[in-house]
Amino acid sequence: MSGDAAGGAGDRAGAVDENRAPPGSVPARGYVFDNDSPHSGDHHRYLEEALDPLTLGRLTEAGAGPGMRCLEIGAGAGSVARRLAGIVAPGGHVTATDLKPGRIAPAPGLTVLAHDIVNDPLPDAGYDLIVARLVLQHLPRRRAVLGRLARALRPGGLIQVDEFDAGHEPCLLAPTEDDARLYERFTAAKTALMRASGGDPSWGRRAPAALRDAGFTGIDIRPHVLLRAPGTPALGLQLHHLAHLAPRLAENGFTPAELARLRRLMTGPGFAAATGVLYSVQARRPPARETSDSDRRNT
Ligand SMILES: C[S@@+](CC[C@H](N)C(=O)[O-])C[C@H]1O[C@@H](n2cnc3c(N)ncnc32)[C@H](O)[C@@H]1O
Repeated sequence: MSGDAAGGAGDRAGAVDENRAPPGSVPARGYVFDNDSPHSGDHHRYLEEALDPLTLGRLTEAGAGPGMRCLEIGAGAGSVARRLAGIVAPGGHVTATDLKPGRIAPAPGLTVLAHDIVNDPLPDAGYDLIVARLVLQHLPRRRAVLGRLARALRPGGLIQVDEFDAGHEPCLLAPTEDDARLYERFTAAKTALMRASGGDPSWGRRAPAALRDAGFTGIDIRPHVLLRAPGTPALGLQLHHLAHLAPRLAENGFTPAELARLRRLMTGPGFAAATGVLYSVQARRPPARETSDSDRRNT
């Protein structure tokens, strides 16, 4: 285990907003979409289809290429890490970590590790590139984790954090007003469950400032919204959330008839919704001279 004295402004700010469950929330139970769930295969498949083009497009635009040493944390089923290993070949390497990495298939240039990003050690300045997609929002102490990631990057190295702000996921088309209200009740319950598990479903909107506060520079933000319409992976993802969370939604006031109606609504004609905004945020660890200047200011 590392000492994890993440330090810096990020920690101090983090102490204010992290781990605070809103009044009336349900009891905490840990990461809400467990990789051991039978629904997890669908979860990762839809994430891959919906988001890999965006995540990998941004990485290649920013110069990901042969020879780079990369880390992906919370890699899920590893689709990004696997493709990135191809992009950084020859001479490059990707380490894909996850609390539960059992779904990550081996590939050339890829090392898979069981690793808890909150507590387990990371090499100092060990990577040219770090990717974190839809992980930090689920973590307690996410700002402290950003401090640890800053130290694990070489000076001048690149981090990409892709995170949803799920605080506003509007229904755009539904057969009746009642249907639209039921869908919006579901999205509100989903984010409440994520909060109750120690996550911050709106963290996407806070990611740029959190990166700046952790000492990163050159913050480059790209917002994206996806359509949840029949046949889209973004709707598949939402259907997965409904299936995965059904037992907990039932504990929190949804009747079996309402859950069945939601599924019919989302799989039937005449339904469309938008995802929350996905913020893809790139930033760099300052080059060595800037780092030591800022270190001096902080001492
Ligand atoms: C929503 S999934 C995202 C997976 C992948 N990054 C993607 O976007 O396709 C979140 C992942 O973070 C992992 N995770 C949760 N807590 C973690 C921790 N403390 N350390 C490492 N991984 C963690 C989960 O096991 C899961 O695979």
